[in-house]
Amino acid sequence: MEKQSTFRIYLAPLQESTDYIYRRAYSRFFVGIDKYFAPYILRQNDGSVKSSHQRDINATNNKEYLLVPQILAGKSEDLIFLVKLLEDQGYEEINWNLGCPYPMVTNKGLGSGLLPFPDQIKKILTESLPQIQSRISIKMRAGLNSSDEIFDVTEVLNDFPIHEVIFHPRIAKQLYKGVPDELVFSEVKHRIRHPLVYNGDIETRDGFNGLKERLGDTTSWMIGRGVLKNPFLPSILKDGLLSEIRNEKETLRGFHDEVLLSYSRILNGNSHLLMKMVKFWSYFCFVFPDPHKAFKGVKKAVNIAKYDMAVAENFRRLNQG
Ligand SMILES: Cc1cc2nc3c(=O)[nH]c(=O)nc-3n(C[C@H](O)[C@H](O)[C@H](O)COP(=O)(O)O)c2cc1C
Repeated sequence: MEKQSTFRIYLAPLQESTDYIYRRAYSRFFVGIDKYFAPYILRQNDGSVKSSHQRDINATNNKEYLLVPQILAGKSEDLIFLVKLLEDQGYEEINWNLGCPYPMVTNKGLGSGLLPFPDQIKKILTESLPQIQSRISIKMRAGLNSSDEIFDVTEVLNDFPIHEVIFHPRIAKQLYKGVPDELVFSEVKHRIRHPLVYNGDIETRDGFNGLKERLGDTTSWMIGRGVLKNPFLPSILKDGLLSEIRNEKETLRGFHDEVLLSYSRILNGNSHLLMKMVKFWSYFCFVFPDPHKAFKGVKKAVNIAKYDMAVAENFRRLNQG
């Protein structure tokens, strides 16, 4: 039984990392996440949706936890198309991405590329929302070029029935550099009429407690890299949940083995599998006493037998720690 918390934790979407294989394994081995957000799906130039994106949001692959799928769309036609596709899968909340910072995306007027154009955001919401049954939430950054942009966007959002807004207070230009701007978060929190979720750089209990003190009445928090680096983090933050996990090392090993087995079932060829597991270890290595060494061992593996040996060695060192 999970202890009731006074706050909620959401798993952030990370392309290539928090796919349904990861999410499903996570939900079987760890506790503390209230809602899982899927990395964005989008329409390609010919109007179709990639089969890997379809598989990731397919309801049968996501039935063990509460999933909020995410879409990337820069015009109402695309937003409505993607929302309908997801509504057909039974989803009741869908997240619109206004945060992706990469020029390949923003140059097409997608993700945070829309933030300097509040009128376009208003047009899309005006045209789309009457045709949508599900709840729409938004995940956004502080701006494309400057955090001044977010205040006009906030004003537009206030005129629409948005379910909640997740705010990562960095501008796109920063990517993940510098520190999240808590002042901008507080100012948006003050101005916005919708529930506001904080996202950015939550990695430790002390860091989280400081944020909770400074950001007053914020009650929902989204965490990405912090969870990937330490899958126990949500239970650590939700005081007391950790004691429900019988054996930390066994849990980590079971989680790893399940991720590996699930990828091996869907990926063609061992080199794809190894690449996927190296990505997994680029974060997972941080639970080991010497992360750099743990990652290096796995990265060097040229076949599955070598990979298994590197993993066994990492867990052996963890057992000594
Ligand atoms: C490799 C990578 C991929 C990401 N993919 C997405 C995505 O598909 N959709 C999205 O809204 N945010 C995406 N993000 C941003 C994260 O959801 C999150 O906002 C960011 O990592 C900051 O939170 P954190 O410090 O807790 O990780 C991505 C971030 C990274 C590093």
